[in-house]
Amino acid sequence: MSLESVRYSRGSLAVLNQLLLPRESRYEPISGVREAWEAIRAMKVRGAPAIAIVGCLSLAVELHRAEAKEKEQLLTFVLDSLAFLVTSRPTAVNMARAAGELSAFVRREAERAGATSESIQESVIRWAEDLLMKDTQDNKKIGDHGARHLVRRIPGQPVTVLTHCNTGSLATAGYGTALGVIRSLHAMGRLAHVYCTETRPYNQGARLTAYELVYEKIPATLIADSMASVAMKEKGVSAVVVGADRVVANGDTANKVGTYQLAIAAKHHGIPFYVAAPSTSCDLDLKEGAHIVIEERPGEELTDLNGERIAARGIGVWNPAFDVTPCGLITGGIITEFGVFAPQELQAALAKFTKERSSNCPQKVSRDPSAEVEKEPGGCNPEQD
Ligand code: MRU
Repeated sequence: MSLESVRYSRGSLAVLNQLLLPRESRYEPISGVREAWEAIRAMKVRGAPAIAIVGCLSLAVELHRAEAKEKEQLLTFVLDSLAFLVTSRPTAVNMARAAGELSAFVRREAERAGATSESIQESVIRWAEDLLMKDTQDNKKIGDHGARHLVRRIPGQPVTVLTHCNTGSLATAGYGTALGVIRSLHAMGRLAHVYCTETRPYNQGARLTAYELVYEKIPATLIADSMASVAMKEKGVSAVVVGADRVVANGDTANKVGTYQLAIAAKHHGIPFYVAAPSTSCDLDLKEGAHIVIEERPGEELTDLNGERIAARGIGVWNPAFDVTPCGLITGGIITEFGVFAPQELQAALAKFTKERSSNCPQKVSRDPSAEVEKEPGGCNPEQD
């Protein structure tokens, strides 16, 4: 069985407290929106897709448990709760995007002839449950597209991947994004080795990715972030694959701090650099990465280790949690559930594929990106697998 960041059944939600890993595996109940907001802010649950899933499911659980509300009161509660959840962490777009889509959806549901509080409540709960289910499905597609692409691009030899931060089951509903690509390569028997960075200062790589790799029996080696360039030079790294917190219209990508320097080093060594991200991590409303708000976290994450001060007292600290990798450094491509695209192809490809998906399932995708942003020239060109 795979690791689970979230345990959900109707009316009940628990998250694996990732602050305690790998020492202790403890699931903690989340009874509603306020508790979810606190768990996200404290990083008990983290990773762009998992943040949105826990946020939306906490609303589902609170609705399921609460006394019935009047229609107007219910609508206000749902909209206010979503707006509040968006304030938990600013950089990953997934919660904001889910909140925008679910808010539009619930407004439409409320206007439907014959809509009752019960029917609205049920449709919100189902929407959140769908998000959970769809995330794992999309991650498996990302894994499959990415692995097949890498095998084609690096023929005749097993692939060695360097990855950063944690993008696995713990950061998603299951399977993972960049780690999903690694998992798929391993399942195909085409993975030689993984190098995972410890991911200072929060150590998501050492604490979480290393834990997942060991758990999945995937051959892997932990390196300090400062060893990445020499690993690229000496360890036969064939590709760098990372996740994303927000990919904007031109392909610029915000991800865990340290991603940018990996992309620079990969370019220097002629190693293809990939971002693996579901369309739910893409924000086509922003034209370029300079507009992304980067979360700054407490200085103690740098100055202290396990609650003990290691840095000289009095030193100033700058602790941005993310950085932006310019699209020009994403030399391999962006691996999505729809295929692998060059950064400049992403916008048109997402417009096409999300439109197709929304016409198959109209209530799920309420936003047509092509209607809101100026398109880049050039059509979509998904990798043919
Ligand atoms: O601060 P975190 O741990 O939430 O940051 C997580 C990352 O940067 C991940 O790489 C990203 O969210 C992708 S998770 C599939």
